[in-house]
Amino acid sequence: MSDNVKITVNDNGPYRVKGDVELVDAEGNAFETKKMISLCRCGHSSNKPFCDGSHRQIGFESEPRAE
Ligand code: FES
Repeated sequence: MSDNVKITVNDNGPYRVKGDVELVDAEGNAFETKKMISLCRCGHSSNKPFCDGSHRQIGFESEPRAE
């Protein structure tokens, strides 16, 4: 068991954040979060900063790999 937070850069999709995190806006106000959240990486979500699945409709393509 680990308290580490894991962030996965999903191919052609959002950042998947797993673990206890505090997510705040630029004014320090907290968003409601769960143990696993998906953060928009394509910029087209209507529910930013969360992913709403819009990346599929726009054909977002990004498959970065760590070196
Ligand atoms: S990554 Fe899913 S809506 Fe942007």
